[in-house]
Amino acid sequence: MTLHRGSFISRDTRCDSKNKTHKRNVSGYWLLARVIQTSLGWCSVDTEKLKSSPLHIVREKSFDLVQNLVQLISLKDKNTLEHSNRVYALTREWATYMRSKWQWIDIDVSALELAALLHDVGKVGVLDEVLSKPDALSKVERDHLEQHSEIGYQLIRDFPGISDISLGVRHHHERWDGRGYPLGLKATQIPKIALIIAIVDAYDAITSDRPYRQARSHEVAMQEIEKEAGRQFSAELTKDFLNFMHSQNT
Ligand SMILES: [Fe+2]
Repeated sequence: MTLHRGSFISRDTRCDSKNKTHKRNVSGYWLLARVIQTSLGWCSVDTEKLKSSPLHIVREKSFDLVQNLVQLISLKDKNTLEHSNRVYALTREWATYMRSKWQWIDIDVSALELAALLHDVGKVGVLDEVLSKPDALSKVERDHLEQHSEIGYQLIRDFPGISDISLGVRHHHERWDGRGYPLGLKATQIPKIALIIAIVDAYDAITSDRPYRQARSHEVAMQEIEKEAGRQFSAELTKDFLNFMHSQNT
């Protein structure tokens, strides 16, 4: 998909705002404008002005926005889309397991599921050659890739009703021991939604093919995750995840 600087917004803002297709397109363009602004540092579109235009009708429809964000991921990178869908599905199953065991859980499950789906949306702002590089990343490339959690957060933080989700997106690469990013939060400073997604994200990363290595087995993933309990991951959540995964395989 090619974006033409300064041309892709003005074309659609002239349309009738009551038209549903128009609203969907404008919503998508507004998001694209934000992507460009946050990731590349330039944009000829006044996104603040757009936010106060009839777009507020669209912005209130979180579901539509989520659909647009997912579409953005699919336009950018098929692997990220498939990874996001798997992380969403496994997080959903784990949340169902937690609920069946305790009857209640102290998190907003629907926010958790959407955060799982959108956790890597910020990768739309990462260069293709970095995302698909088959070799080890340089320090500069690694720093660029690591910006995806902050880009994702900035993309969705202002949308009404989904600020919880934006925290899951922002902090899914924090580590329990404080050595993660973007803020180096530690232990319970990290939002629980992000702690949960971090474990599922790691499981899927280990068990799926990456540009730089082949998928490893379920058993290897389980061992790797167990090893990181109390270091990369919350020990309590790791134990629950392992129990959940064992329950799926018995
Ligand atoms: Fe990520």
